[in-house]
Amino acid sequence: MSTSLPPFLTATKVDLQKAAQLLAEGECVALPTETVYGLAADALNPSALKKVFTIKGRPLIDPLIVHVLDIEALKKIAEYDSRLEKISSFWPGPLTVVLRRKSCVPDLVTASQETVAVRVPAHPLFREILSLVNRPLAAPSANPFGYVSPTRAQHVRDSLAERCPWIVEGGPCRHGLESTIIDLSSPHKVRLLRPGPITLESLREKLGEIEVVTKVASAQTAQVAPGMLERHYSPSTRVELFAHGALPASTEKNSAILFLGRRKDFSSNSELFYLSENNSLTEAAANLFDLLRKLDARGFSKIYVERAESAELGLAYNDRLTRAAAR
Ligand code: TXA
Ligand code: MG
Repeated sequence: MSTSLPPFLTATKVDLQKAAQLLAEGECVALPTETVYGLAADALNPSALKKVFTIKGRPLIDPLIVHVLDIEALKKIAEYDSRLEKISSFWPGPLTVVLRRKSCVPDLVTASQETVAVRVPAHPLFREILSLVNRPLAAPSANPFGYVSPTRAQHVRDSLAERCPWIVEGGPCRHGLESTIIDLSSPHKVRLLRPGPITLESLREKLGEIEVVTKVASAQTAQVAPGMLERHYSPSTRVELFAHGALPASTEKNSAILFLGRRKDFSSNSELFYLSENNSLTEAAANLFDLLRKLDARGFSKIYVERAESAELGLAYNDRLTRAAAR
């Protein structure tokens, strides 16, 4: 790592003001959220937005999520939809909603579509910076396009280094999986574009029927949500999944097995790792990207990972694993 990189910015007033000032001047700053670290930029400044795409190596067809402090700020960039009232208890929090855009939103944010994805984040440092900058912030996950999302400040430094010198250190992300994305852009339909910490079950309780968009057929339709590309969130090491509660059918030499919770009296030639000490899926999800990154750096021949039961948070956890395992 280059020694010329500045230290992480911290939660002090001086540092948060520095972050806000950089953002106001059109620079990118990596910020903690309750889901994953985001690479933030002024959502209304096209030249700042261009930097986001360059830093991430992200194709311009992949639209960005815009983060705002509250519904009042949302109304300046998107058409308000009365269904937002039904889901107001999930904000601030890990839910992103796709709405009809307002014309002030640059095409770079929306990939020239008529919709914009908006989220009201809960992380106190992100919120503090939003109120200091006093404008909406676009922020994709702060990782190179296609790689595992960062859940620690150090992850951002590890994979973006001098491309993103300014990082606000806010500790490990609480959820560790990206926000749930729902599409409310058509008046009579709700679609789930990406499962996440706000579960499909809890959304259906508030909104009724929700269509689950599962597979993306082609790169063209992938524009709906490129986070849904079959291969995404991938470590370099090959990943193979096995059923919840089961074992891998066979294991390669020099491989690792990543279990959801502790397994008693189990021995293997593979090295064993655990996502949660007490079989908590919430804890496992929060640790998933961190462990995948750590194991990826160890040079294993393969990483075998245990799936969760496909309900509640398990839907998002399995979704990210399936994409990490796709080749
Ligand atoms: O938790 C999160 O959502 C994190 C933190 C930083 O907020 N952000 C995040 O952003 O995961 P990103 O860019 O890595 O993933 C955003 C997803 C992409 O798959 C993108 O295609 C989709 O949101 N998206 C953005 N705008 C959209 C739109 N107008 N319509 C449909 N999908 C959209
Ligand atoms: Mg991402």
